[in-house]
Amino acid sequence: MAEIGKDLAKAKALLKRGELVAIPTETVYGLAGNALNADAVTKIFEVKNRPSFDPLIVHVASLHSVSHYADNFPLKALALAKQFWPGPLTLLFKKKNIIPDIVTSGLDSVGLRCPNHELTRSLLDKLDFPLAAPSANPFGYVSPTRPEHVNEQLGDKIAYILDGGVCKVGIESTIVGFVHDKPTVFRLGGLSIEEIEKVVGSVDLSLNASSNPKAPGQLKSHYAPGKRVRIGNIEELVQEVVLQRTAILSFQKDYKVPHQFILSKTGNMPEAAKNLFLALRTLDKLPVDTILTEYVPADGLGNAINDRLRRAAAI
Ligand code: TXA
Ligand code: MG
Repeated sequence: MAEIGKDLAKAKALLKRGELVAIPTETVYGLAGNALNADAVTKIFEVKNRPSFDPLIVHVASLHSVSHYADNFPLKALALAKQFWPGPLTLLFKKKNIIPDIVTSGLDSVGLRCPNHELTRSLLDKLDFPLAAPSANPFGYVSPTRPEHVNEQLGDKIAYILDGGVCKVGIESTIVGFVHDKPTVFRLGGLSIEEIEKVVGSVDLSLNASSNPKAPGQLKSHYAPGKRVRIGNIEELVQEVVLQRTAILSFQKDYKVPHQFILSKTGNMPEAAKNLFLALRTLDKLPVDTILTEYVPADGLGNAINDRLRRAAAI
């Protein structure tokens, strides 16, 4: 198992040596390595068992450092960064050569994000390189929102987990790129489309690709637990199953069954997002065969939650 602690000097020393450290962000925990060191980045792909066609997000200390790693900044990208960084927003820019090709899987764009977590911001301030960091889970599985989640799955492969407690947003960053300067959302996430459109006007959506996806968050099966997940009207689905072998993941309603997780008893969407991955992990460990779930109301973060549920069920 990896050591879990709050020692920034230790995290810095490991990263400088090209080792990997799990870092907290407001969205999910990341598996971080020096983004300018191709060997460190190779380790990230190995530890996650991640296919090399899936590019990594590069985490920066502030908007000021963007110009070191990217050029061609659409005005709308700058407006979004000014408004929402640090925060759950990744922006795609044209990459500079200083970013090794392995980071971006050979694409000429790089995803940059300034995360909003005190500990990781202090770490980035102390480093003279940015951090490549995908979510700290094996490829295709549910993202981690607590240090223990990282330790359970990657603990024997990394040296250190920086303990930043429970992730406040709980769902990955929203990814926005610019196609002929038109803001285009490639992954729904912790920043809602409504918030983005308040700043830059209407956006295009490019969320699905069954092969050679722009973002593997676009893959049909992703964020998936080991159990079979079925989405629909829980009251109807429940008629078709053996209750002892079934878990229910509901938005708000208490089904009074032996195995269940309620995302938010008060129907609070940010709370539901924060609980989503914990819920999938918790239910995945129960002695059940199937998880029955339902879509949440499709506004704000609800769309990102529904996207993760759909991919967890691979429909
Ligand atoms: O909230 C987050 O974004 C978390 C935390 C750790 O920052 N990171 C995260 O990374 O979710 P990951 O690797 O699990 O998902 C990143 C997604 C992938 O689907 C990848 O394909 C996409 O971002 N991506 C990265 N760079 C890209 C690029 N240049 N063009 C298109 N998609 C890109
Ligand atoms: Mg991921």
